[in-house]
This record gives sequence, C-alpha cells and structure tokens, in this order.
Amino acid sequence: MAIQTVTVVGAGNMGSGIAQAFASGGFKVTLNDVSAEAVAKGLERIRKPLEKRVAEGKMPQADLDALLSRLTPQPDLKAAVADADLVIEAVFEDLKVKQELFAKLDGLAPAKTLLATNTSSFYVKDLAAVTKRADRVVGLHFFFPAAVNKLLEVVKGPATSQASADAAYAAGKKAGKSCVATADAPGFAVNRFFVPWINEACRLLDEGAATLPTIEAAAKEAFGITMGPFELMNVTGVPISLHAQSTLHKQLGAFYEPAKGLKAQVDKKANWDLAGPVEDAKKPLVAARLRGVVFGIACHLVEEKVCTLRDTDRGATIGLRWAAGPFAMMNKLGAKQALAEVKALSDKWGKAFAMPMTLAEHAAANKAWHLPTVTLEMLDGGHLALVTFDRPEALNALNETVLHDLDAVLANVEKAKPRAVILTGEGKAFIAGADIPTMRAHDVAGARAYTALGNRVLDRIAALPCPVLMAINGFALGGGLELALAGDLLYASEKAQLGLPEVGLGIHPGFGGTQRLPRRIGIGKAKEIVYAGKTVGAKEALAIGLVDGVVAPDALMDHCLAVARAIASKAPLAVAGAKTSMDHGTETGLAAGLRIEQESVALLFATKDKDEGMDAFLQKRAAQFQGR
Ligand code: HXC
Repeated sequence: MAIQTVTVVGAGNMGSGIAQAFASGGFKVTLNDVSAEAVAKGLERIRKPLEKRVAEGKMPQADLDALLSRLTPQPDLKAAVADADLVIEAVFEDLKVKQELFAKLDGLAPAKTLLATNTSSFYVKDLAAVTKRADRVVGLHFFFPAAVNKLLEVVKGPATSQASADAAYAAGKKAGKSCVATADAPGFAVNRFFVPWINEACRLLDEGAATLPTIEAAAKEAFGITMGPFELMNVTGVPISLHAQSTLHKQLGAFYEPAKGLKAQVDKKANWDLAGPVEDAKKPLVAARLRGVVFGIACHLVEEKVCTLRDTDRGATIGLRWAAGPFAMMNKLGAKQALAEVKALSDKWGKAFAMPMTLAEHAAANKAWHLPTVTLEMLDGGHLALVTFDRPEALNALNETVLHDLDAVLANVEKAKPRAVILTGEGKAFIAGADIPTMRAHDVAGARAYTALGNRVLDRIAALPCPVLMAINGFALGGGLELALAGDLLYASEKAQLGLPEVGLGIHPGFGGTQRLPRRIGIGKAKEIVYAGKTVGAKEALAIGLVDGVVAPDALMDHCLAVARAIASKAPLAVAGAKTSMDHGTETGLAAGLRIEQESVALLFATKDKDEGMDAFLQKRAAQFQGR
C-alpha cells in the first residue's frame, strides 16, 4: 500500500502546512477547502514564505517551482479525493464537523484510500465509526507549524489495520517527519504530558507558590527550552491550552481539571503578563512540580502501552524541542529523585494521579530506564528495515550498550526477513567511532573482549542474507567506518567525513578496518588512509571507490529508499544468492568462485520465484515475487 497521492481537506494554517510537507516529500498533493478562495488562500500561505526563502537565496527557484507544480487546488471535494491514496482531514476541531466530513469522504473516496484525521483531541475510533472502512482510518497528528515541525504522531485506532498504520507511517517519513507510533488514547503521546505541564504551571500560580516570571524561568532551566509555558500560551493562544486540558479532563478525570487561573485568563481574553521579578529560591520547588507531572504521565503512557519509552522522549525532544525527554531526564536526575517528585503529586491526588509501578521498581533497584541506542523500523509492509543509531549526544559512538542494542536489533531483522536493510545515524554523525572513554579503560584482555564483541556484531551485519545499505549522513570514523564497510552499498551525504583516525589514538583499526577497507579500495589507498589516520570528504570517498554514491544531505534517505525499493522489487532469493556468490566467491580463486556462482544459480531453478519471474516475462506483466 505505497502512498503516492495525498489530498488535504482544510487549507487553513495546519492544512496548508501539511500539504507543503507532503509536496516537499515528492507526493502529488491536492488541496481542498469549502471554496476556491479558501483554497487559494491556503496556497498563498505555502507560496509566500517560500518565495521569501528564494529571495534570500535559501532555496533555489527551481525547487520552489517543482514543489508548487506538485500542488493542485481543488475546491470540489468529490474531484479532490477521486485519485487519492491518502486523504488527511485538517478541518475545525469539532467532532460533529469531522464526523460529517468522514462520512462524506467514505462515500466519495475510492475503496483503497486511507482516511486520516489530524485531530489532537478526539479519538480516531470515533471518526472511524462513521465510515465503512474502520481498518483504513488512522490518526496523523501534526505539530504546529506543520510544514516545519518534524514530529508526527501516527495513531492506530482499535480497528486500524497494521498495514494502514504502516503505510501512513512510511508516508509520514517520506514527507520528512520523525514518526512516533501511538495508540488511540487521550492526547495521544505528547499532549498527554505537555498540556498538563502547562496546566501545572497555572496551578502553581493559582496557589501563589511562585510569581509567573519565576515559574517561567524555572521551566526554561529545567526543560532546556527558550519559551516557558506562559510565553508559549501567548504565542499559540491561551484558549487552545484550556480546550486541550478540558478534553483531557473529560477523558481522564480529576487530576486533569483545568486550573482556575487558566479559565479566568481565557475569560479575560488576554495574554499573560510576563513581566515581574524572578524569585531564584523558589525555582527548585517549581521545577520539581513540573517534572513530577511529566515523569508521572510519561510512565503512565508507557505502562498503558500508548507509546514506547523512546518515542515518548522523541516526542518531547523533536516536537517540543525540550533538551531531553522525560525518561532521559529521569536517568540524569536518578530514579529515586524522580520517584520523590512524582510521589509528592501522587500523595496529593491519590488515585487521580496513581503512582506508576514501573518508576517505583526502577527507584527500588536504583536502575536507569533503558533507552535503546539503536532502533528498528519496518517499512513497506516489512520489505525494508531501517536501523537508526540513536546516541546523538556522543555522535553515536559505539560503546558496549550500543553494540548490544545493535545485536538485539539484528536478531529482530533476521526474524523479520526484509528484502533490504538501511542503516543510518541520528543527528550529525553516522558513527564517530568506537567509544573512546570505554576503550581508554580497557587493558589487553578488555580490548580483546571488546573487539571480539564489535567484530561479532559487524560480522552479523555482513552475514545478513539481504543487501545492506549504509546511509552515511555525517561522520563515519574509526569503528563507524568499519561498521559501514560491513554493508553492501555505501551512500554518503555531501557533508559526510570518512576516515580511520585510530593511529592518532595509539591503536590501529580493530573492527575490520585493515581487512575490509583494502578489499574495497585496494591496498595502496587503504594504507594511505590507515597509516596517516586520514579523513576524507564525501567527494574524495566517491573518487577512490570508498562509497558508491554521494547525495545532497536532504536527499540521502530518499536515495537509499529508492535503491532499497528497487532491490526489494526483485526476487529476494536471487538477490541473496547473488550476494553470497559475490561475497564468498571473491574471497577465493576465480575457479572456485565460478563454482560457487554455478551452484547458487542452479538452486534458484527450484524456486517459485524463478517460475514467476519467467512467466511474468512471457506473459508481459510485472512479476510478484514471494521469496520462495
Ligand atoms: C565517545 C565521542 C566520540 C567517540 C565524539 N564523541 N566522538 N564520544 N567516543 N568516538 C562525543 C564528544 O566527546 C562530545 O561529547 C560529543 O560526542 C560531540 O562531539 P564533539 O567533539 O563536540 O563534536 P565536533 O566538535 O563536531 O567534532 C566531531 C568529531 C570529534 C570530529 C567527530 O568528535 C572527534 O574527533 N571524535 C572522535 C573520533 C574518533 O577518533 N573516532 C575513532 C575512535 S577509535 P561531549 O560530552 O563533550 O559533548 C575507533 C577504534 C575502533 O573507532 C576499533 C576498536 C579497537
């Protein structure tokens, strides 16, 4: 169910931002609203700021022209959805209005079309209920401003099929979003803790616990943000916070009741006055209260299986731009302190803010939350696996935790049997090498164990039966480059830097660099790099055959996905046979290599895919391979 055409219904601020994101992701987008004027206004919202970027030299005119050429205005709803693979509703946040629209869309859109709602406060199931395609209804919750904010919550309703959720997730990724999968629960993942965080700031003010500027300053420091809760409300509109909190209150009970001061401020129709003195001594108390709310709810989210621990943190760092997510913050603070802060609230609210058992257990064992440093996403109905190194604070350096997490991810990749795998890094590095503090602590025996672990995990990558692509998004140094060399195809961003700096640290490559590099680029060039601890830019890497392609940073993932999809469309056993023939055959003499190839291809004549591939050719149709 690959999505190519998207229709956005509602051309307001959110809708036009969503349309822009999908158009820049290469989708054909139709923009719809109640009138031609409203649609034209929506298009202006997209065009004007982008024209400014062109004028400032930040965007080539050709890119703007291409983006606009993918956007079609269509005020007629029936015509707008006639061709759509995915329809996204971004109309006024009113359940009746949305339900009427969904009933209409269900009648007008083709049966295959996925219907998505951008609601932030209603259940996906309440919209699915008015259609006859509940399995093809999902939530796609974008964050303001939708064209720019990278976070996208992909909400799976109780009746949403996994295939629909996967297709929506993949489309969101292609539109440049960092997707977070959530269940159909109140506030989904992020608003569930973010809105009460704002409400708690208002409660602190109601109680006279601190002045408004004190609360604002304490929040900024504790969460590493540039705008505190009150300034944020001024920017987004105070009533939005009250509306969101009231909805949570209805769904989740007493703890979520809106603060009196918040209601009063909305009645006054005024923004908050941010001026006044900051009382430094009261900041710790304020910070502890705000953290307590966030920590408690984050644990509830994970215990209720709304969202994973890592995605809860990503929601905070990507969507809200907090310096760290709730679980990373708890790890830094220590589970005991986090527990104390949540307990203070739980003692006050009783069942309305229940003590999360998982936090109590972590505190009792004085244990940190395990935040996976390597993640796995299955795309295209399981045909592609995307593995991401996620330790950006240390440029994804390979410590033992990362290697063990990667090992566990590879076990899941092996079970999932994808047709191609892509590995990449979060942040500005692919991987900046083995972890230097870890290595500094090792003696000979420790180094032996550590390199054995590294080599075992890298061999596991090399041994995957399907092709492995490396999307080298930034630094690939030392063990990072060695890991990339365990893949089949290496694609680098123009910004990438590749090298083996080990000799500058008093060691030499130990994760296969002295072996795999000469096999790839020849012994002379490899020695140049290893002996001098040399780092090369992407262009030079391409010239010496170290990488197989260099792509603009924004286009790297799309390029890798396109190559991976081309591979995935072919017969998987044939591709796997070709991989082993090349990998094993080139490690022996020509005669032995030719025998390896001969036996491998002969065995393929026993597969169903060989019959399918050849029948498809003879019947002049596209082949549908099963991997059997
Ligand atoms: C642990 C690392 C790291 C590494 C970066 N960091 N590389 N931590 N191990 N290999 C951490 C930094 O300490 C810093 O943490 C944070 O990541 C950001 O890095 P910066 O240095 O501030 O970034 P920048 O100035 O942009 O420089 C980027 C860089 C530089 C050029 C890549 O970080 C660098 O030279 N790193 C080391 C690269 C390296 O030598 N790799 C090979 C390792 S040997 P803080 O906490 O300060 O913010 C190897 C051997 C394998 O891989 C075989 C084993 C036997």
